[in-house]
Amino acid sequence: MVIWREGGRRPLERNRALLERAKRVVPVCSQTFSKCPTQFVEHVSPNFLERGQGSHVWDVDGNEYIDYLMGLGPIILGYAYPAVDEAVREQLGKGSILSLAHPLEVEVSELICEIVPCAEMVRFGKNGSDATAAAVRVARAYTGRDIIACSGYHGWQDWYIGSTTRAAGVPEAVRELTCAFEPGDIDALHRLFREYAGRIAAVVMEPAGGLEPSKEYLEKARELTAEQGAVLVFDEVVSGFRIALGGAQEYFGVTPDLCALGKAIANGFPLAVICGRADIMSLFEEVFFSFTFGGECLSLAAAKATIAELRRQDVIEHIWRQGEKLRDGLNEISREAGIERNLYCYGMAPRTAMGFKDERGADWLELRTLFQQEVVRRGVLQSYGHCVCHSHSDEDVQRTLDVYREAIPICAAAIRRGDVAERLEGPVLEAIFRRP
Ligand SMILES: Cc1ncc(COP(=O)(O)O)c(C=O)c1O
Repeated sequence: MVIWREGGRRPLERNRALLERAKRVVPVCSQTFSKCPTQFVEHVSPNFLERGQGSHVWDVDGNEYIDYLMGLGPIILGYAYPAVDEAVREQLGKGSILSLAHPLEVEVSELICEIVPCAEMVRFGKNGSDATAAAVRVARAYTGRDIIACSGYHGWQDWYIGSTTRAAGVPEAVRELTCAFEPGDIDALHRLFREYAGRIAAVVMEPAGGLEPSKEYLEKARELTAEQGAVLVFDEVVSGFRIALGGAQEYFGVTPDLCALGKAIANGFPLAVICGRADIMSLFEEVFFSFTFGGECLSLAAAKATIAELRRQDVIEHIWRQGEKLRDGLNEISREAGIERNLYCYGMAPRTAMGFKDERGADWLELRTLFQQEVVRRGVLQSYGHCVCHSHSDEDVQRTLDVYREAIPICAAAIRRGDVAERLEGPVLEAIFRRP
């Protein structure tokens, strides 16, 4: 395994040339805000990756990294994972999409009904946003109400992104129909039910986004929504097939009415799921949720193979173990450096997040930028914490902690001297959106 140190690093020349071409023809230079140049330190981090294998990726200049973004979550087993790729190749020989429904649509639906506690019926989409938007539409049809209460991130569609600062293009009339509440704050949810009495169609929440929730909070949200006649939707696009095979609802033992899944289900192939109670799901007989690639077979073959691997191997136990070592190891190094209040890792081990805070406890983007700059130049690609997969080995974890042992003291020295901003070799990273 060749992981470059700074001295052995190849310059990002091809990367730079590609970025210049992208600036001319691709708005934000990428298809996903989280991959765009404002999220990676210019001149130090690559913007383009050419290939991945297991837990490692290679940029277009040939530099190798241990990756903790994992394609933004879909890679649960590893890049180019043989059992999944073989299933896709086999299906490729039979057609990627056919003119009528394919048996895999039924088979994968049955698997999801076996695995996910709330699932009695299932429909497929391509992105997590398809599934959350479908949940919102069917919940409105079921309840005859219009307001959506949400906490967490739920994708690019009008109903959700209109509730953030990145709402350009979303009509005010649509924005007014979504109200956000802080995750974990059951009193805030009570207040919303009072403010919009009889009008809330659905509560859409990430059951395990960011900080680990309490089981009691999830139970109270379950009780409150049932009492108020609103549909409880768990957005398990990240937590599904990751926190537990059946997602956070299995882990915490709290069953929602509907659930959105995506990302990890097909180890990198585009598939999302809306599933839940049969009496609500059967409204899709009437509610329009229909598109050309809904039954695309390569992703369904990938999902079947991925689920088989998740059941056959101790994938979930492994990602919990490796994630804990990374989170706890990072926090110990930060404590030793005396900056545990400024730079820390938190959340549930299979997908942790990082906090970068100034002395007043406000988000500190300069510090986040410096940390990323120092780890990426040492061969660790991470931006928000650790998204762990089955292929992250003990050696990867050890190597990553060694990198943190070099990078965190640099951050600590910069904080002490007050020159965090001066040490940056590119512009400060930007927040993609905020809550108003
Ligand atoms: C919790 C959650 N829900 C929904 C989405 C939207 O999924 P997609 O980007 O696949 O549309 C995301 C994407 O990151 C997510 O993290």
